[in-house]
Amino acid sequence: MTRLLIKNGTVCNDDSMFKSDVLVEDGKIVNIAQSIDPPSSDVEIVDATGRLVIPGGIDPHTHMQLPFMGEIAKDDFHRGTEAAVAGGTTMIIDFVIPNKGESLLVAYDRWRNWADPKVVCDYGLSMAITSWSPEIAHEMELVTGEQYGINSFKFFLAYAGVFMVRDEEFYQGMLQCAKLRALARVHAENGAVIKERADDLLQQGVTGPEGHTQSRPEELEAEATFRACTMAAQANCPLYVVHVMSKGAAAAISHHRQQGAIVFGEPIAAGLATDGSHYYHEDWLHAARYVMSPPLSRDPSTPNALMKLLAAGELHLTATDNCTFDCKQKALGKDDFTKIPNGVNGVEDRMSVVWDRGVHQGLIDPMKFVSVTSTMAAKIFNCYPQKGRIAIGSDADIVIWNPNATRIISKDTHHHAVDFNIFEGMEVYGVPEITISRGRIVWADGKLQTEAGSGRFIKLPPDSQIVFSSVDRKKEANKPIKVERGEGKSSEPATSKLITTASSD
Ligand code: URP
Ligand code: ZN
Ligand code: ZN
Ligand code: ZN
Repeated sequence: MTRLLIKNGTVCNDDSMFKSDVLVEDGKIVNIAQSIDPPSSDVEIVDATGRLVIPGGIDPHTHMQLPFMGEIAKDDFHRGTEAAVAGGTTMIIDFVIPNKGESLLVAYDRWRNWADPKVVCDYGLSMAITSWSPEIAHEMELVTGEQYGINSFKFFLAYAGVFMVRDEEFYQGMLQCAKLRALARVHAENGAVIKERADDLLQQGVTGPEGHTQSRPEELEAEATFRACTMAAQANCPLYVVHVMSKGAAAAISHHRQQGAIVFGEPIAAGLATDGSHYYHEDWLHAARYVMSPPLSRDPSTPNALMKLLAAGELHLTATDNCTFDCKQKALGKDDFTKIPNGVNGVEDRMSVVWDRGVHQGLIDPMKFVSVTSTMAAKIFNCYPQKGRIAIGSDADIVIWNPNATRIISKDTHHHAVDFNIFEGMEVYGVPEITISRGRIVWADGKLQTEAGSGRFIKLPPDSQIVFSSVDRKKEANKPIKVERGEGKSSEPATSKLITTASSD
């Protein structure tokens, strides 16, 4: 039995903070009390004086070793999860992305075979739906079963011809999600208009990374976000908008929430800490490093505004969309910005970035920090309180967090497999000093102590409470109205009892 006793720290959950010791046995938290004596001589003691004892971060949006735009993302499941634990994240949710027309089951096996032998912390999977057919609908049902453990499906409204689905496919997919009580997730951009604009810009000779941002104005993210929310309400399907990058997209989410729709918004570390001015940098490679979709906002006030929306509860949790390509890979788009592989780093720096821009700036408190970095993800993806909480019986995924220490982010010290870091040179408050993954110390004294394949696959069951608890009542309240018209029938005017949906205004 491995035992770990964390002494003198301040336990911080999403709803409370209190001074306490924490005892861990065989990967689980077994006791939380003001003072715990070592139960045996072999127990390892961790001194957490002056530190917070927080649930390990959960990053609900990563793409380790994703084959994309003719390249393979550099952070594989080994390097990527090492970067995660070095930054205080102890669980990632990555995406199975089947090729168009491919069986979901075949793609699922491929991802499991990539990840299982490599991960150094726990992970779960979400699945993209890149084409539509009765078989895909049937396989969605299979993979939400106990054997597979998928409880969310992502739809791309961008990347025309590659991952993008049409509106009717997206709508059918959401109907199926609602039936299976799986969460629909969406990459919201208007892929058709982006394609037209990109062709036009290239024709006009705008071939550099500045073309990437100009081909994808924020309005095209806002429009697609509004459309996705509207369609989700019509399908009575809860929706999760990944990588909310602009104020307009966030406003679309707020609007629909105010109509009673169930929508969650996920800003990412990149969007909270940096902006799209980089795309106009005179050094081509510098600019190309920031190419991701949707692009970083051109409005320099956006990062702070997104953090304020998290603080206000208008956005709900943070992720990274970690999908890294090195300089050589980025350079493949030297003469054509549409060929620059899309994606940036984040999984290692998210926790510090959110602490620094959120807690250190006084916008959120440490409990909200825990909420937006782990607890909300655990609740939405239905693994709470196994994950996302310091509680007796929970997995011992724990971070000893120093709120007062700073570190400078750099490619020279990071654990990603790429040769640059989009946060290069940023000094951030909030440092994960020790990371514990299911009771094992995997990061301490600035060193990794990991073992490939030691992480577990976490099956995520459907029907998360925080996502689905009002869906049946919404359906009942929005039942179709049939007017009975017949001989001798005196008819009362039909009244609708609509209680929700964006369509009701
Ligand atoms: O540019 C990005 N975001 N790359 C990863 C794929 C995606 O859209 O999530
Ligand atoms: Zn995306
Ligand atoms: Zn993504
Ligand atoms: Zn290693």
